Amino acid sequence: MMLFWSLLSLLPLLVAAVPTSSAEEKIWDSLGNLSPYHPAPIPVGVSADLPADCTVDQVMLMGRHGSRFPLASELVYIQNMTYKLGNASAAVAKAKLPSSMQFLKEGYTTKLGHDDLSAPGRLELFKHGVNFRLKYPQFNATSILAGGQDRVIESAQWFANGYYGRIWPNISSTVFSEIAEDNVTVSWITPMDTCPKWDYNYGNNATVAWGKIYLPAITKRLNKLLPGVGLTDDDTHGALYACAYDLAAYDVSPWCDVFTTTEIKDFEYELDLLMDGAFGYNLPGVMGPTLGSLYVNKLIERFSNASAEPVYLEFGHDTTIDMILTALGLAKDTPPLSASGPVNPNRKFRTSNQVPFAAQMVWEKFTCSSSFQGPQIRLVLNDAPLPLTTCAQSKEDKAYGTCSFDAFVSSNNFSTSISWGDAAWNSTCGNPGF
Ligand SMILES: *[C@@H]1O[C@H](CO)[C@@H](O)[C@H](O)[C@H]1NC(C)=O
Ligand SMILES: *[C@@H]1O[C@H](CO)[C@@H](O)[C@H](O)[C@H]1NC(C)=O
Ligand SMILES: *[C@@H]1O[C@H](CO)[C@@H](O)[C@H](O)[C@H]1NC(C)=O
Ligand SMILES: *[C@@H]1O[C@H](CO)[C@@H](O)[C@H](O)[C@H]1NC(C)=O
Ligand SMILES: *[C@@H]1O[C@H](CO)[C@@H](O)[C@H](O)[C@H]1NC(C)=O
Ligand SMILES: *[C@@H]1O[C@H](CO)[C@@H](O)[C@H](O)[C@H]1NC(C)=O
Ligand SMILES: *[C@@H]1O[C@H](CO)[C@@H](O)[C@H](O)[C@H]1NC(C)=O
Ligand SMILES: *[C@@H]1O[C@H](CO)[C@@H](O)[C@H](O)[C@H]1NC(C)=O
Ligand SMILES: *[C@@H]1O[C@H](CO)[C@@H](O)[C@H](O)[C@H]1NC(C)=O
Repeated sequence: MMLFWSLLSLLPLLVAAVPTSSAEEKIWDSLGNLSPYHPAPIPVGVSADLPADCTVDQVMLMGRHGSRFPLASELVYIQNMTYKLGNASAAVAKAKLPSSMQFLKEGYTTKLGHDDLSAPGRLELFKHGVNFRLKYPQFNATSILAGGQDRVIESAQWFANGYYGRIWPNISSTVFSEIAEDNVTVSWITPMDTCPKWDYNYGNNATVAWGKIYLPAITKRLNKLLPGVGLTDDDTHGALYACAYDLAAYDVSPWCDVFTTTEIKDFEYELDLLMDGAFGYNLPGVMGPTLGSLYVNKLIERFSNASAEPVYLEFGHDTTIDMILTALGLAKDTPPLSASGPVNPNRKFRTSNQVPFAAQMVWEKFTCSSSFQGPQIRLVLNDAPLPLTTCAQSKEDKAYGTCSFDAFVSSNNFSTSISWGDAAWNSTCGNPGF
């Protein structure tokens, strides 16, 4: 009997090490742009696969780097929260805690680094390289382009290992290049860096405002459980980051079970507000679509060009993908997201689905012997078609989420009417001055 009970008491520990219940996994997938990679839901009524008579002729991948450590600015919140608890260990020892918070009695410390790709991030990109090879065996890419930031470069390298094998650095016909991420390099990966009027605070101010609304209730709840510790809203923020970033670094975090589903969803909304505000529809005027137009124009240029490469493999950021979606007019909400809270529980702008770590935006240009006439285009975002609603015309378009390439080009006339440094760009962004 004793043995039985002591084994049983070990069970929760074993179970906690891996996300077992699908509800738990689902909530971990609601950590916005800090979610581990997971496929997006297939939209209802849309086929995941193209008809059997269709052939993909050209592909472009824009990948996000994999799971990473917190940014240095985020790590401070986690550390401060940890120190606060560490200095209050007597109070923590006395507290009557629910089972989900018992780990605090052991003393929670953090060894998280910052900014760089984590071990799970390496695995995500390696797997994506393998899967890309298996999904498009008809192609053999001859180039890889990475935004010039360490975690992006390392992500592209792990992808290359999965795609080509370890021989890849020695394949002389394959060019690995980097494009600088700075304010003097025009790039469709980091277009905001050459837009002087762009300001991160367009998004950050909204998240600060929303944080003042949703964080206090969580802080109050935690302080009730932990009398004498004196957690602040910044510490609560740190605990939410600890959940997301322990997961990103170790695949598991004791903090994730501390929060209710509603609390995690409120944190997700904060992350959506940040991305939508700084890299999406909530930028002022037409700044969002203007920034994303650089990529959309590149896409149209390559898919219109008979001598272009059949495959382009490129790596950047969540921000890159959100600006592109904004130029395309996809995942757009009316009314726009509000800093005073989620108005529409079914909002379309969802960074959890759009830009988790290792997100993959895949564009396919295809032709079919009978299902469709002429060249067509499809967007597969995180393994699920994202219907091109702004150019869909036929019932087949709706069934597959596709558009004729011509209709896609016409519907993107906002993008094609702009090029970097022209009058429209300068009037939105200010004169770039170089
Ligand atoms: C972390 O703590 C330091 C020292 O108390 C403080 O100066 C800083 O503002 C805190 N940062 C955050 C993000 O809470
Ligand atoms: C107590 O707080 C200080 C300053 O914030 C920190 O350096 C120290 O590590 C904390 N102690 C513990 C045990 O966490
Ligand atoms: C891709 O091309 C490289 C260089 O020619 C070659 O070494 C490699 O075997 C090719 N891989 C496939 C799967 O065709
Ligand atoms: C690449 O080529 C160099 C020089 O021939 C060789 O030393 C190295 O082992 C090769 N690397 C791989 C991964 O094949
Ligand atoms: C680019 O950034 C540097 C500092 O990082 C600054 O000194 C310079 O003025 C900026 N240049 C432009 C064109 O914005
Ligand atoms: C962000 O908020 C600060 C402080 O309230 C304000 O000074 C600044 O103008 C705001 N920035 C933007 C881009 O909204
Ligand atoms: C078409 O692609 C080829 C090969 O990449 C390139 O040299 C050429 O400039 C492209 N043409 C246009 C109009 O973009
Ligand atoms: C794009 O096309 C639409 C429909 O033809 C037209 O109303 C709109 O003015 C065009 N926009 C631009 C920027 O050319
Ligand atoms: C926009 O700004 C760039 C960079 O300063 C300048 O070269 C270009 O002439 C400007 N474009 C227009 C149409 O004024």
